[in-house]
Amino acid sequence: MNLINITVLGTGYVGLVSGVCFAECGHKVTCVDTNKKKIDILKKMKSPICEVGLEELMVKNAKAGRLSFDSSLVSSINSSDIIIIAVGTPSLPNSNEVNLSYIYQCVDDICSYLGKNMVVIVKSTVPIGTCDDLQKKIDSKSMQYKCTIVSNPEFLREGVAVNDFMNPDRIVIGINEDIFNKKSLEHLYANHISRGVECVYTNRKSAEMIKYSSNAFLAMKVAFINEISDLAEKYNADISDVSRGMGLDTRIGRRFLNPGPGFGGSCFPKDVKALIDMSNSVGLESSLISSIKSSNDSRAINIANRILSQTQKNDVVSFLGVTFKAETDDVRDSPIIPIINEVLAQGRSVKIYDPAGIGNAKGIFVHEESKKKISYFNDALESVKESSLAVIGTEWKEFKQLDPIAMKSMMKKSQIYDLRNIVNYDSFRKANFIINCIGKHQNEQ
Ligand code: UDX
Ligand code: UDX
Repeated sequence: MNLINITVLGTGYVGLVSGVCFAECGHKVTCVDTNKKKIDILKKMKSPICEVGLEELMVKNAKAGRLSFDSSLVSSINSSDIIIIAVGTPSLPNSNEVNLSYIYQCVDDICSYLGKNMVVIVKSTVPIGTCDDLQKKIDSKSMQYKCTIVSNPEFLREGVAVNDFMNPDRIVIGINEDIFNKKSLEHLYANHISRGVECVYTNRKSAEMIKYSSNAFLAMKVAFINEISDLAEKYNADISDVSRGMGLDTRIGRRFLNPGPGFGGSCFPKDVKALIDMSNSVGLESSLISSIKSSNDSRAINIANRILSQTQKNDVVSFLGVTFKAETDDVRDSPIIPIINEVLAQGRSVKIYDPAGIGNAKGIFVHEESKKKISYFNDALESVKESSLAVIGTEWKEFKQLDPIAMKSMMKKSQIYDLRNIVNYDSFRKANFIINCIGKHQNEQ
């Protein structure tokens, strides 16, 4: 196996997972982040993010001398064969546009210190055409070295990112230089290629488009099943059966057909908005892609109104699960946040429990008004005390085993709203709970 020396810029969900996993594949990796606090945590062999299996791999590969951390690229750049850019590309505030300032900062830093020919891989999600622009920018610096930009988007899901990195459905590589020596990329992904993972070689713009189109399509699938679940409720159909019956059609596929409070996270909302922005900037209307965003945006208020219709002013509403999905501590763009804000605005008090995201949640509700009416708990049962409604916001495994008898003894009113259709329906019904769920006949009592 040809060992590659790699510098990864950015140690977020994408950069850290990619760096650790490339080290696990046998390469020598330096992970760089300008956030010195993060680097200090990493040097203490602690992962700043919640990812199954990541910390163990970090410790193993650091001990093997394949993985190190630094707050600057200066010491590792010229001993690297490849530089991977994995810094954040968030939406600009109140805009569909992408903030590319961190990407351009990385390229400036590379140009300032580069002392050899280099392959620069852009793993961050960037609008179509960005990599070509970066190539032009680097070439215009008329450095004495050749620096080739490659687009190599990732498809990691938070919570299972290590698994997704090591077992991808495909590897997408965008290169424009046909004389480009693909060898270094084949060595980089040798472990994957040897296991039969398919590599899609294309040009940079198409590689960038594959990423946005994949995320927007998956977001559309989620928005679609959410709307179908509203229809199922009106016709007393059962969305779980509808989803199963649809998903067995191999042209549709069963994944991403689970209804819920709406899609969230640091990617789907951002990437759908970016695709709308890209379409509009070339004069295309993007009616379907725009409808994915508007359908999802309206879902939060739709769900909040259902919660309000089941409670009165001054009632306590408990939210079990505030992260944007289960198995993560990430609350970025969680659909539960606007739901909680609306419930508070309509005079309810809120209690919040989350198995992993409670710390991040406390950083979200910072308005003085909200602070007075929100309390946080590290225990599900404590969080439903005096509550008139327990809302299941995310599909954490522990919520599948909630004890309705214990909950009943704590609650003012025995009522749940299961936004993920995961609780044990029969045990709650036997305990005389009013059970509201998504896309099914409501159990009115
Ligand atoms: C993000 C985007 O969400 C994703 O769409 C994109 O593909 C990759 O970047 P994520 O890993 O979640 O994914 O980003 P984030 O958690 O924000 O981490 C980015 C890291 O880059 C942060 O640790 C930040 O400190 C670091 N960074 C940012 C730098 O090291 N240098 C910079 O100039 C800017
Ligand atoms: C997504 C893409 O899946 C991944 O390929 C890309 O690299 C980054 O963005 P992630 O944002 O981590 O990954 O989460 P994902 O598991 O895709 O879920 C996204 C949102 O859709 C979550 O809010 C989730 O709750 C919701 N969702 C997903 C549903 O509501 N129903 C589903 O069936 C699946």
